[in-house]
Amino acid sequence: MQHDSICKLPRIRLTMETNLNAAPDWLYLLREFYELYRHLPSGGSSKIRAHQRAVREAISRVKNANAAIKMEPPQQLPATAHLRRALDEGRQQRQASIVRSVDSIRNHLVWQYGYEKMPESLKQKYAYAELCGPTGPILSDEVILGLVLFAPGCTYPAHAHKEITESYICLSGSVSENHQGVYAPGSLIFNPPDQLHRITVSDREPALMAYAWVGPRESLANQKMILQRTKSRRSPSK
Ligand SMILES: [Fe+2]
Repeated sequence: MQHDSICKLPRIRLTMETNLNAAPDWLYLLREFYELYRHLPSGGSSKIRAHQRAVREAISRVKNANAAIKMEPPQQLPATAHLRRALDEGRQQRQASIVRSVDSIRNHLVWQYGYEKMPESLKQKYAYAELCGPTGPILSDEVILGLVLFAPGCTYPAHAHKEITESYICLSGSVSENHQGVYAPGSLIFNPPDQLHRITVSDREPALMAYAWVGPRESLANQKMILQRTKSRRSPSK
């Protein structure tokens, strides 16, 4: 009888709230992001150097404020079946330290699509999880940090971010953007606001990318993710 009554309890959606100093794994991860944006070379680009500095300064403010952490129930998507492989491969690379840190919070990640309309094929091969931003888990209104996971052979269609400066850092696997180069672990891809970018992924291995967005607070809070329609599958229209 008691068993029946337990089974009939309504399912409650639990949201846990804490802060950085009380959640060391999240604090370490934030520090790893900071170090990544401090040590990766800028290739002599003043724009990339300024972006890296802006990301670091925003992270410092989040840390110093002992930001709140709001954790939603974790969520998996089809692409996350490739996460373990991506982490295993990433641990062999120079960025192993942040990969281990990601591993420590992997069971709390809320993987999502972000797009209202997207091709069915993409649903099987793409997912992203936010780590810091206006909707959390680490709350900040001035920077968004997250992870993008691509299954092998994924093509992430052309898209752009209004008023947002974006960087992807490859942690595992390899990708190309706009057919303009191959980015292996430790490479940084820089996308200024409104720049269309389309990403392709190696056929053999998944790719795990860390990303950062900086821009006006309103744009970070209200960013609409829209994929560009392209007639040809060969390359994005510019
Ligand atoms: Fe992007």
